[in-house]
Formats: sequence, C-alpha cells, structure tokens
Amino acid sequence: MIIRHPTLHQLRIFTVLARHLNMTRAATELHQTPSALSIQIKQLSETAGEPLYEQMGKKLYLTAAGEAVARAGNDILRRLDALNQELNAQRNLESGTLNLSIISTAEYFAPRLIGTFCKEHAGIEVHLEIANRDSILERLKQNLDDIYIMGQVPDDIDGVARPFMENPLVVLAPGDHPLAEQSRIAPERLKDEAFILREEGSGTRLTAQNFFQEQGVQLKVRMTMSSNEAVKQLVAGGLGLSVLSRNTIAAEANAGNIAILDVVGFPILRQWHAVYRKNKRLTAVAQKFMDFLLEGNY
Ligand code: PGA
Repeated sequence: MIIRHPTLHQLRIFTVLARHLNMTRAATELHQTPSALSIQIKQLSETAGEPLYEQMGKKLYLTAAGEAVARAGNDILRRLDALNQELNAQRNLESGTLNLSIISTAEYFAPRLIGTFCKEHAGIEVHLEIANRDSILERLKQNLDDIYIMGQVPDDIDGVARPFMENPLVVLAPGDHPLAEQSRIAPERLKDEAFILREEGSGTRLTAQNFFQEQGVQLKVRMTMSSNEAVKQLVAGGLGLSVLSRNTIAAEANAGNIAILDVVGFPILRQWHAVYRKNKRLTAVAQKFMDFLLEGNY
C-alpha cells in the first residue's frame, strides 16, 4: 500500500470510525452527517489504494489496511496534540529558558527586575551573564543570548535597541568634599580635581569624557577601574571624584560616604536599553520579558 496525501481531517474522522465501528455513531461524535463522513472515508481509501473497512449488516470491520491507517492516524494525532501542548506551554510561559546578558553596571538593578519577572512566571529558567561592554557586544555579534541589557548602544550594531529605564549619570565626591554643599557648580570648576574613571570602553566613561570634552574641560584622570564598586570605594575614601550611574550608589549616598555634586549639565540623562539581534525571532519567553521591561511595572 502506498499512501500519499491523506488529510489530517480524514485521518481524524477515520480514527473515530475505527473506534466506534459504526458510521452513525462516528458521525454523531463528529457532528457530521453519515454521508459526509463516508465521502471523506471513501477519499481516504482511494488515497490509500485499498478498502479500509468492510460492512456486514450494521457492523463495520476494519481491513488490515484500515487497521494500519487507524494506528498511524492515532500516532499522528497524538503527536500533534503533544506539539500543541508544548507550544501552549511556551506561549503560556509555563516553561522555557531565558538567556540574558547584561553589562556590568546593570547588575545593580537587573537582577531585581528578573526576580520580579520570575515570580510571575515560575516555570522559567533564567541564564544570566554579567560581562563588560566588549564581551556583551561580542556575544551579541555571535547571537549567544536572547536579550542584552546595556546603556550606551553603538550605532553600528546589527540589533534592535529599545530604551526601557532611565540611567542618569552623576558626579560623585567623598561625602565631606567642599563642593558637596554647593549648588550649580560649573563644569570647569572640576578641572583641577582628580578623577577616578571606569575603564576605556565603558559606556559610563565614554559619556563622561564626551560631556567634559564638549565643555572644554580636560579631566585629570588619576585612576582607571573596571569595577563600579572599586570606583565607589576610592571616592568614599577621598581619592577623587567620579562619574557613575546613579543606579550604582543608593546605599553609599544614603550612608553619607558619597555625595552627588550639583554640577551644571548633570545628571546626564541616559537610558538603559534592551537589545536583540535584528533578524532574531524572539522566543515567546524572551518576547514576554521584553514586554515586561517596556511596560515598566517593576
Ligand atoms: P558600563 O555600562 O559603563 O558598565 O560599560 C553602561 C553602558 O553600557 O553605558
């Protein structure tokens, strides 16, 4: 028997008929007339090239070909049901994996957001990579993750960047710095201060340098650190001023170890972006996380 193109509809009908072995009862279950049913089954027999059943009185008997078609039909329909359940599970976020990469400064807020999201969708497993800017851009290039969180987004990346949260950059000084009490400090008054800046390639550093360059102020960079924590400790310890995201300093500012200076032009208002590769088809879970970020209820 060579069976070529049975339709799913025909297979479904035939599996019901094979269960009831009675045309009227099968038609009732399928909400069809017995004659509509027998047309479909006749077409299926023609496709199969064999009769699929024999009728003796009111009772139907499946032929060997009919048994085989019924078995295959049941298998196919079960597989389709399983597929439907799997897709539904993904759509309903009962399960699935979310691969995220976030830039170092985002570790001050992103885990909290991820936590809120996971509480709402308990079946999701999150893989989180925290990395510096170069690694994040490399990972994006290699398409290793679903979504990337970064501040400064380069123009030439092959991605879609959606801003979702403010990332204000502020000038930090030790809590007891004389400028801490002053307001409307002109940027040029900072030209003789020692600065502790983030490393080359950091989005924070890039923005700070661009700002002071536009103001014609040459910063005295005393130290360069690749960690926000190290920068904060050095500022708190009196070794210099810095520019960091306000997201990084809540605890220190409250404790009074670090002051935010009222410098004209600051805070520099920037945004955190959720980024994904341009032609990437986001998974249902990733799309949901993207919507969650953009809705902003966290
Ligand atoms: P970074 O991150 O300063 O930690 O590199 C912020 C950004 O991407 O702008």
